[in-house]
Amino acid sequence: MTIFDQILPAVAEVLEAQRRQLTQLDWLVINRDLNGRVRFIAPENVETDDVLRESLQALYQVLAGRICPHAYEAEVSVLYDVDLETACAGGARRLLQGFDHVWVVDRLATEGNWTQIAPETVGAPRVVFFSIKGGVGRSTALAACAWKLAQLGKRVLVLDLDLESPGLSSSLLPAGRQPMYGITDWLVEDLVDNADSVLDGMVATSDLSRDGQIYVVPAHGAEPGEYVLKLGRIWMPKVSDDGSRETWSARLQRLLQMLEVRTQPDVVLIDSRAGIDEVASACVTDLGANLVLLFAFEGSQTWTGYRILFEHWRQGGVAPQIRERLRHVAAMIPEVDRIAYLAGLRERAYRVFSDTLYDDIPPPDPGTISYERVGGHAVWRVGEVVEGWNFDEADEGAPHYPWVVHWHRSFAGLQSLQGRLAVIDDAEVNSIFGPLIDGVRGILHD
Ligand SMILES: Nc1ncnc2c1ncn2[C@@H]1O[C@H](COP(=O)(O)OP(=O)(O)OP(=O)(O)O)[C@@H](O)[C@H]1O
Ligand SMILES: [Mg+2]
Repeated sequence: MTIFDQILPAVAEVLEAQRRQLTQLDWLVINRDLNGRVRFIAPENVETDDVLRESLQALYQVLAGRICPHAYEAEVSVLYDVDLETACAGGARRLLQGFDHVWVVDRLATEGNWTQIAPETVGAPRVVFFSIKGGVGRSTALAACAWKLAQLGKRVLVLDLDLESPGLSSSLLPAGRQPMYGITDWLVEDLVDNADSVLDGMVATSDLSRDGQIYVVPAHGAEPGEYVLKLGRIWMPKVSDDGSRETWSARLQRLLQMLEVRTQPDVVLIDSRAGIDEVASACVTDLGANLVLLFAFEGSQTWTGYRILFEHWRQGGVAPQIRERLRHVAAMIPEVDRIAYLAGLRERAYRVFSDTLYDDIPPPDPGTISYERVGGHAVWRVGEVVEGWNFDEADEGAPHYPWVVHWHRSFAGLQSLQGRLAVIDDAEVNSIFGPLIDGVRGILHD
């Protein structure tokens, strides 16, 4: 019996054997529905051409024999549509490997498919704090970054988008300063065109900032209210009277733009949910992030998770769109055996990045060839110019090369991060979070 992972290799094999026949089609869509069943969608002109139609249906029957439980009955196995755009509507498409006009479209129960990468934002830089596993110190590092950037006179907008497990705002705001509403309220009210009622009441300013300003937008307000029941509705797309549909992540993007207009930040720090999750997908891929921080511990589970995600980007053909924005953060580096620990982490990260996101060309050898970066791309010369994207393991400018956050006992098992940050000083912040903060500062517009 064919299982899900065997479908696309089988499709590619069957189509390869009939490549000549396929040249008669302007395009073909391999549509995998919510249950993982496959159909063809072909241009309308095929339906009215008896020879073409019958040969395509015969082709489908060969495929059906290969992927059986994932196939449709003959009568409903091929659909026809006016054009490729309409055929793919509502799903992300990617080319079937080895073909230039056969597209694969996956219909998912969730909208977070991770392969629609919004272009980088051109306004205030947006930085996403993401990790595969939870509890790695993401929120703490974000709060420390906000603290330091505000010390430097920056206006920092902080969004708590760890909606299923909120808490960041309480680390930046004492109880009395929590705003009335949060992101979840806005997303729910927006569905009934009532979002303006909550927008003014969802931003609070932190009293931790001296020279700059920290604007905090929490997941929920001071009174969470019926939080679980609101959370269950935030995913909803908004359908307007004219039938147009706005996905929930597009709504979130709209909210962020409005918050930026109100707060005029120099930088936006976004606390994402951990894991391969739908809200995390919105944060990492849909909000036009300029920098995505990938927090990691040494441990096989972390790297297995990152490998799955990176491989998905590679197969979806979007690695070049996202990889330049990524940066590995070595989370909570232990006090003992630091150097060996870090070397192990860097090596592990390098293996995962180079197997999936880096180009399959030799990394530059700094000793023998001249090498420079142009627009974020590594370009090197060996007699002729070779353009590509690969790095040496020891290249500090590479995405796999970790920015370090040190484990520090004063942060372990804290009762109140807000209380801790209220008494922290510059030297302490720098010694624990310095490389990370410097890295974030590096992408700010001056
Ligand atoms: N640099 C650090 N040194 C020591 N302990 C830390 C450090 N950073 C965070 N911690 C502690 O580790 C725990 C997890 O931190 P934090 O909540 O910031 O992680 P997180 O990745 O945001 O977790 P979650 O996935 O639950 O949101 C907390 O108890 C925190 O006080
Ligand atoms: Mg957190």
